[in-house]
Amino acid sequence: MEKRQELYAGKAKSVHATDDPDRLILTFRDDTSAFDGERMESLARKGMVNNRFNAFIMEKLQEAGIPTHFDRRLSDTESLVKNLEMIPVECVVRNIAAGGLVKRLGVEEGQALEPPTFELFLKNDALHDPMINESLAETFGWATPEQLAEMKALTFRVNEVLKQLFAEGGLLLVDYKLEFGLFKGEIVLGDEFSPDGCRLWDAETREKLDKDRFRQGLGGVIEAYEEVGRRIGIDFD
Ligand code: C5P
Repeated sequence: MEKRQELYAGKAKSVHATDDPDRLILTFRDDTSAFDGERMESLARKGMVNNRFNAFIMEKLQEAGIPTHFDRRLSDTESLVKNLEMIPVECVVRNIAAGGLVKRLGVEEGQALEPPTFELFLKNDALHDPMINESLAETFGWATPEQLAEMKALTFRVNEVLKQLFAEGGLLLVDYKLEFGLFKGEIVLGDEFSPDGCRLWDAETREKLDKDRFRQGLGGVIEAYEEVGRRIGIDFD
């Protein structure tokens, strides 16, 4: 597989074309951003840790029958993925109240959410990823009602698989964000799943072991990511 020109550089990952038009290379960088890129830092080993973390989770999801773009890990920081036509809508499921929900609705952090909530956000940095709904997505052509229904169903299936996987490691899956795209007409999970895009707490102490450590200046960010990874069986060596 030949790595060709860079197509896109996001805040933490870069996307390169390959000699196969159906495949892209994702490069996980050490860059870490918060608050829409207002705070940027480079954290040593983060690219490697997130690349391995993502590969492990995507394989688990694939085994559970959830279609993902993941093909294979190519190196410490690179993975080969299917070339999706991305849908500019982020899907967020929450099992426990935290972050944006607490800020928006004034509910107590740590409150169990039963049933879990499902929210949609428009992927748009300039507008700070505003919350949207099915009606807006349909009217503005971001996704069809059928695509949204499929994305919602898949997002909840991911919850069942990952809540259990993390529970076995003594961890609570508080919330997470997924992105989807189309590959030959099929809705497929894209982007990444790592502690950058979800919240994970120790089940006993409720210690934060995800990107909130960076957002809140708690330190030990990558050590926490590795701790989570080790607890679910990822080998970072
Ligand atoms: O900020 P908020 O509480 O709405 O985020 C919910 C979940 O989605 C968190 O796990 C957060 O890390 C993730 N998220 C993300 N990228 C965004 C927005 C939220 O990964 N642009």
